[in-house]
Amino acid sequence: MTNWNDYDRPHQDLREFLERAEQAGEVQRISGADWNLEVGTLAEIVNGAKQSKAPALLFENITGYPPGYRLLSGGTNSSKRLALTLGFPVPEGPMDVVRAYRDRMLTHRPIPPRVVETGPILENIDRDDDVDIFKFPIPFLHEQDGGRYIGTDDLVIMRDPELDWINIGTYRAMAHSRNRVGLWMSPGKHGRQIREKYFKQGKPCPVLISCGHDPMLFLAGGNELRFGQSEYDYSGGHRGLPFDVVRSEVHGLPMPAHSEIVLEGEMHPGETMAEGPFGEFTGYYAGGKSEQPVVRIQRVYYRNNPILTMATPLVPPSDFSFSKCVMKAGMIWNEVERAGLGGVTGVWCHEAGGARMFNIIAIKQAYPGHSKQAGMLAANCQSGSYLGRFVVVVDDDIDPTDLFQVVWAMCTRCDPVEDIDFIRKTWSGPLDPRIARGTSTNSRAVIDACRPFDMLKDFPPVARASPEQRKKVAAKFADILAKL
Ligand SMILES: Cc1cc2nc3c(=O)[nH]c(=O)nc-3n(C[C@H](O)[C@H](O)[C@H](O)COP(=O)(O)O)c2cc1C
Repeated sequence: MTNWNDYDRPHQDLREFLERAEQAGEVQRISGADWNLEVGTLAEIVNGAKQSKAPALLFENITGYPPGYRLLSGGTNSSKRLALTLGFPVPEGPMDVVRAYRDRMLTHRPIPPRVVETGPILENIDRDDDVDIFKFPIPFLHEQDGGRYIGTDDLVIMRDPELDWINIGTYRAMAHSRNRVGLWMSPGKHGRQIREKYFKQGKPCPVLISCGHDPMLFLAGGNELRFGQSEYDYSGGHRGLPFDVVRSEVHGLPMPAHSEIVLEGEMHPGETMAEGPFGEFTGYYAGGKSEQPVVRIQRVYYRNNPILTMATPLVPPSDFSFSKCVMKAGMIWNEVERAGLGGVTGVWCHEAGGARMFNIIAIKQAYPGHSKQAGMLAANCQSGSYLGRFVVVVDDDIDPTDLFQVVWAMCTRCDPVEDIDFIRKTWSGPLDPRIARGTSTNSRAVIDACRPFDMLKDFPPVARASPEQRKKVAAKFADILAKL
């Protein structure tokens, strides 16, 4: 087994990351798949069957495209690939990554990107009338999608026109035509807030869309950081080295020098096209079809034989849902502690809830009200807020990743009337399948499944053999137990 600590420096780009992941048996190459539904369906089948053990899928020789033009699904979707991305030791399981993330964040310092003059992304540049994004094998992912999506595992890079910082967010990008894409940004997202600032000033909104890059940038782009924190600086902090960026030709925006494909363009106030439907991470097509702003593409930058990265939202598990659970759990853990909470022994976001809707926080209770504080913070910290639904607080003897143990705690330590609280009008959006169309807020249930603090002393003991007793009996009857 490769030990990721053996590398003397972080991977330079997606290609080096893939080499390292492949050496560790974490990549499956697939030749001859069609961009039209086959790659998406394969991602669904493989991740559905193997879940967090699924390899990344590297599609080569895609029907109708040059052999070297590739598509990558599931780059970060295993504990080992996440550890490789973030530079953590080889993990035994997901909680090792969650703990490593939480520990890293105790000393994490942002490192701003370094502006360089050139980089592999400038190997090819298509300008103005030469732009044709269909030269890349843009996938058509799900049968009911409204079109092909060039941006799923992408980075939408924008400059805040008032506060002058660079935001990066992962937003789906639908290919409308050879030089137009539509972006779908939910209300409240930083990218959307920035776009609205330009439009309010009556100005076009410049944008870069990277469609293949170091997976560290995808982890940053696809998860909620605090407003004003540039994902470049955050990612550099994880890497321990700045990301190299080159200035784009038209708008001078910083693009990763080692990205695979970057589109540059601008959105104009009032200019929209029908976007969607698109299969979503909750497992539905709730957002449907709607008018959304359009990016007029002015430049396409790309490496020779580019790798287009893709993420396939669908009924979980998908090719990114596991990775999102691990990241979210680490981020929530870090954020509740930063808000002052002590005694946290674990956080896990379950994949069935798409890493958002069924989150668990485990604590060692220290004072009355501790568990309520934990639940409220986990439900509304930046990483736990968007499209949340249920937060369950459990005692430290419960493994938050074990659904059976969590449900047992809910069934035996939680009195619904006493221990479930609702929070109304919380941050959600059109992708929430359960809210009325046209609304953007939902509610939360915070379920306190800890033993009540004032009953701790006389709460009934757990009826289970002690570890010593189990060990003794298991050793004595080892022959029989081995045959069972
Ligand atoms: C694969 C993937 C696809 C996503 N697609 C969208 C999307 O289309 N629209 C959206 O609003 N959020 C989407 N998100 C969530 C955002 O990327 C996330 O909320 C991010 O923090 C937004 O960044 P920002 O608020 O800094 O701009 C997606 C996340 C992932 C991982």
